[in-house]
Amino acid sequence: MPEAVTLYEMGPRDGLQNEARQIDTADKIRLVDQLSDCGFSYIEVTSFVSPKWVPQMADAAAVLAGIRRKPGVIYAALTPNLQGFERALEAGADEVAVFASASEGFSQRNINCSIAESLDRFRPVLQSARTAMIPVRGYVSCVTDCPYDGPVGPEAVAEVAEALVRMGCYQVSLGDTIGAGTPETIGRMLDAVLARIPAGRLAGHYHDTRGRALDNIAVSLDRGLRVFDSSVGGLGGCPFAPGAKGNVATEAVAAMLHAAGFETGLDLDRLARAGEFAHRLRNPT
Ligand code: HMG
Ligand code: MG
Repeated sequence: MPEAVTLYEMGPRDGLQNEARQIDTADKIRLVDQLSDCGFSYIEVTSFVSPKWVPQMADAAAVLAGIRRKPGVIYAALTPNLQGFERALEAGADEVAVFASASEGFSQRNINCSIAESLDRFRPVLQSARTAMIPVRGYVSCVTDCPYDGPVGPEAVAEVAEALVRMGCYQVSLGDTIGAGTPETIGRMLDAVLARIPAGRLAGHYHDTRGRALDNIAVSLDRGLRVFDSSVGGLGGCPFAPGAKGNVATEAVAAMLHAAGFETGLDLDRLARAGEFAHRLRNPT
C-alpha cells in the first residue's frame, strides 16, 4: 500500500483573501463545491476576521451557509479571536484555525498585537472550542523570514509552535508566508521544531514566491511530515505580507507526490477543472 500524504486545500481562503476585486459570494461557493468533489478531506473555506482588515472575507458566514457539504470533508475557517470563533461556530464551521507569527513585526501588521498577546487571545478560543467539540489547528507564520523583521530564528518558531500545541491545537502548520525559505533554512527550522513536537502533529504551509516550495516539501517529507497546505492553481498571498505570492499549487504538489509513490486521494482531472475556474475568478474576461 502506498503511504498517504494529506493536502489541506487553502484556495478559497489563502487563495482569495488577497484579491483586490470583491469576488461574488456565489462564485466562492461554486469554487468550494468543485473542490469538494476533488477528494480533499479538509478545505479552508474562509476566515472570520475583521471585515475592515480583510473585506474579501466579509461574506464568511454566507459562504459557509451556501456550500454543499460533502460527507467526510472538513470545512474550516480562520479565527483570530473569540469574536471570530463565535461567528464561525454560528456559521457552522467544522473546524477552526488560530494563527500566530514567529516574528513580532508580522504579528503586529497581521493581527495588530504582539506574539504573547496573540497567544493570550487564542486561549479562550481553544477553551470554547473544546466545549463545542470543534478541533483547532494552529498556524505559525514567518517560519524562516519575515517581511518586516528579516530572518527568523528556528527557536522562535519552535517556541510558538509548542505554545500552540500546549494550548490544545491538534496540529501546527508552519507557514513560509513570503516564500523565502530554502531547503536549508526550512530544514534547520524543522529540526528545531521536531525537537519539541512530533512530525505527526506538523504540517508545511509553503508559499511559492521564489519557486522553492516543492523543494521545501521534499525536505519536510524526508523529516516525516505528511500534511501540506496548498492552493488550487497556486492562488493567493497575504494582504499583510508585501510581495507574498500564492501557496504552492495543489496540482503541482499532488503530481510530485504521486510520482514519488505517495497516495493523496485527489482526482487530478477534477482538480484541473477547479483550478481553471479559480483562475477565471481572478481574471474575469
Ligand atoms: P483590531 O482592530 O486590533 O481588533 O484587529 P479589536 O479587537 O480592537 O476590534 C476592532 C474592531 O474590529 C471592532 O469593531 C471589533 O468588533 C472588530 P468596531 O467596534 O470598530 O466596529 N472585530 C471583528 N469583527 C469581525 N470578526 C472578528 C473581529 N475581531 C474584531 N473576528 C484583528 C484585530 C485580529 C481582528 C484584525 O487584525 C484582523 O482581522 N486581522 C486579519 C488578519 C488576516 O486575516 N490575515 C490574513 C490571514 S493570516 C495568513 O494569511 C497567514 C497564513 O496563511 C499562514 C502563512 O502563510 O504564514 C495563515
Ligand atoms: Mg498563507
